[in-house]
Amino acid sequence: MSGTAAPGPGIVLVDDQAAGTLPPPPGGAPDRPLPVVLDCDPGHDDAVAILLALSRPELRVLGISTVGGNAVLERTTETALRVLALAGRPDVEVAAGAAHPLEGPLRTAPHVHGESGIEGPELPPPESAAIAEFAPAAMARWIEAAGEPVVLVPTGPLTNIALLLEEHPSVRERIAHICLMGGSITEGNITPAAEFNIWVDPEAAEIVFDSGIPLTMIGLDVTHRSIVWEPEREVMARAGDRVGPVVGGLLAFFQSFHERTYGWAGTPIHDAVTVAHLVAPELVRTAALDVRIETQGRFTRGRTVVDLRRVTGRPPNAHVGLDIDRAGFVALLTEAIRSYG
Ligand code: BDR
Ligand code: CA
Repeated sequence: MSGTAAPGPGIVLVDDQAAGTLPPPPGGAPDRPLPVVLDCDPGHDDAVAILLALSRPELRVLGISTVGGNAVLERTTETALRVLALAGRPDVEVAAGAAHPLEGPLRTAPHVHGESGIEGPELPPPESAAIAEFAPAAMARWIEAAGEPVVLVPTGPLTNIALLLEEHPSVRERIAHICLMGGSITEGNITPAAEFNIWVDPEAAEIVFDSGIPLTMIGLDVTHRSIVWEPEREVMARAGDRVGPVVGGLLAFFQSFHERTYGWAGTPIHDAVTVAHLVAPELVRTAALDVRIETQGRFTRGRTVVDLRRVTGRPPNAHVGLDIDRAGFVALLTEAIRSYG
C-alpha cells in the first residue's frame, strides 16, 4: 500500500484534558523567547528540528547536546556541527554527551538513517568544534546562566537528560518542562512494543519520566501523522537556496525507510514535532496521562505504558501527544526553510 492519506485516525479521549493539573509547556514569544536546550542524535529528523528551532524568534537555543543513538556519538556530534554550519549558526555551542546508554552497549539505527546516521545529501563541513565539556555539565551551565526556567527538548535516547538530573540535581528546579520525542501509546517501531529513543535507554527514560518535572511526550502516535508527502517535499526543496535542497535530500532519504516499512509516499519528521509544538502549541493535541517505562519485559522492554483510559488513578506525569494538525506542521516547516533564504 502507498498513498497520501494520513494513517489511521488520531487517538480520541472522552476528555483530552480531564486529568490536567500538570503545567503545559511554557510558550515563547518573539519579544520574550523561550530558552531551550536541544539534546539530539542527528539523524535526519533531528537535523530538521535544529533548523526549525534556530529559525524561530519564539525560541532561544542555549546550546545543543549530542548523544549516541541513531549513530555513534562522534557522528551525531559532527552532524550537529554540520547542521549549524548549514544554518549559518556556528556560534551555537555543541557539547558531546553519552556515547552509550546507562546500561549495556549502544544499538544504532543504520537501517533507518544509513551508516553515518545522516545519509543522503552532502552537508557542509563544520565551521566550529564541540566544546570540551561533557554535555550534562554543559547543559547545567546553560540552564544556570539562562536567568529563567528552561525547556529541554530531547530528540534522541534520554541518557544525557538522566545524567543531568542525577549529576546536577540543583538545576532541576530551573527546568520548566521537558518536551521530548519518544515512546508511543500504540505500536512501536524498533520492536513491536517500543519506540527507538526509549528502547535504546529505558533506564534513562525511567529516570526522566519519574523525575516529577512536567513532560510532554511526542510519540509515534503523533509523529506518524506528521508526514510530509512527496509534492510537499518538493516545495520545501525549492523554498530558498540555502537549506531547501539539503532538507529535500534529507527527507527523500528518510522517506525510503518509511516507504519500505509503512508504504508511505512521504516521510514523518518525528523530532521536528517537538519544536513545532513549542512554537505553535495548538498544532498538537495532547492529554495529561500517567506514563511508565517498561525496563524489564521479555517482549516489551522500552515500551511507554500509557494509562490512556486512566484506569490506575495515578496522577498524570506527561502531556501525551494524540494528534497533529499535519498541514499546519508542514506549513511551519516550509516557512522555516524559506526563512534561511
Ligand atoms: C526516533 O528515532 C530516531 O530514528 C529518530 O531520529 C527519532 O528521534 C523515532 O523513533
Ligand atoms: Ca532523533
